Amino acid sequence: MNRTWPDGFLWGSATAAAQIEGAAHEDGKEDSIWDAFARVPLAIAGGDTPEVAVDHYHRMPQDVALMASLGLQSYRFSTSWARVKPGDRAVNPAGLAFYDRLVDELLGAGILPWLTLYHWDLPQALEEKGGWATRDTAYRFRDYAVAVYDALGDRVDHWTTFNEPLCSSLIGYAGGEHAPGRREPRAGLAALHHQHLAHGLAASAIRSRAGERGKAEELKLGITLNLTTAVPNDPADPVDREAARRIDGLWNRMYLEPLLLGSYPADVLEDVREHRFEELVHDGDLATIAQPLDFLGVNHYHDDNVSGHPLGPDEPAPVVPTPRPTSSPFVGSEYVTFPSRHLPTTAMGWEVNPDGLCALLVRLTRDYPTLPPLYITENGAAYEDVVSADGRVHDSEREAYILAHIDAVGRAIDEGADVRGYFVWSLLDNFEWAWGYAKRFGIVRVDYETQERTVKDSGRAFAQVIAAARAEG
Ligand code: NOJ
Repeated sequence: MNRTWPDGFLWGSATAAAQIEGAAHEDGKEDSIWDAFARVPLAIAGGDTPEVAVDHYHRMPQDVALMASLGLQSYRFSTSWARVKPGDRAVNPAGLAFYDRLVDELLGAGILPWLTLYHWDLPQALEEKGGWATRDTAYRFRDYAVAVYDALGDRVDHWTTFNEPLCSSLIGYAGGEHAPGRREPRAGLAALHHQHLAHGLAASAIRSRAGERGKAEELKLGITLNLTTAVPNDPADPVDREAARRIDGLWNRMYLEPLLLGSYPADVLEDVREHRFEELVHDGDLATIAQPLDFLGVNHYHDDNVSGHPLGPDEPAPVVPTPRPTSSPFVGSEYVTFPSRHLPTTAMGWEVNPDGLCALLVRLTRDYPTLPPLYITENGAAYEDVVSADGRVHDSEREAYILAHIDAVGRAIDEGADVRGYFVWSLLDNFEWAWGYAKRFGIVRVDYETQERTVKDSGRAFAQVIAAARAEG
């Protein structure tokens, strides 16, 4: 791929604490909602748990050396709230010390730390007090965020409050597929608003702490959303167009608009009227939420092809992690269906359609004049990997997926999108939430018996992209 990337374009890869660390009950770490959820029968494929994961907690220096060997310029990781501030109590110095060592190790290897404060692992003790359905959790998040900033803000400049709040609000509290596994539409909407509020409270507290430290200029603070293009199955059919509007509204605009415009989209408020969403929004909340952002992280894997009609008999069976019943996270959009466009799919059943990423980035640029610079904070694919006789993983499908999506990012830049970096998901195979260890997204294979790491062909190809981009720049 011969392309000149904008100056300073950042190449990295991403992980999340609960997916890789393990050591789930070591050095003072207590249960997160994912530790507790893993004990619910049928919640997670194969009965897997995050207890050991890929043992990154004990193998961190080797993992950082691996990143350096791939030429990564930045590493996006998350801190575990249940490790740093177990339950809702005081800061746990031993837990914070892990991230202190990680940051030093990264800086020593010349890798920019990109820290996410919430990648879905609420302390279970806070869930027992109502979790994200309770407004007070937003204030507890601010306290945790400040504790992490106070410890690491001298060395970490890039801060993300939330990763994919859609998943940890509606899918966790209304759909039930993610922890805490609740199936309560109003709790899902409450979680959505309270996470936005938590973002705003934490962003403003971190900015003032940075100011006190004389680091206001260096601080780069943002949020990561999972954004999708909701495509009407038949663009000429008003029923499909209406279904696509609802999905776009609930999954994209309910997150983008309070952050960027300081308001919730009126059409979605109408869709969810029966759940009395507006009662959750107190005076002043929207001003707190609409903090200036230094960047918006975009996680993107696939488009959604949306219809308002029932699925036909020939549709492929949905790919689900477990037989545990879930309910629709599509609050106000329960009748929506996702017919196949007969594109190639990954092991998750997700369509492969790189043009969708280009279209999404161009559309964001067009629709939101206040859009901050964009970073692709996640993109990647799960496939059924095979270890060949030569001991290598020739994952040509993942390699093609990643290269095609990087190309799509380049095309979006050509069309005017201000994209400044690309993080592949994921550095390592890991605990894929309700799928447990059944789905592998890594550019590095992990043997779950021995914890041995092997760079896959996709990892080599990504390293070459980085090397070529750096040689050009
Ligand atoms: C997005 C999430 O942030 C990440 O945790 C997850 O593993 C990937 N999507 C793949 O599903």
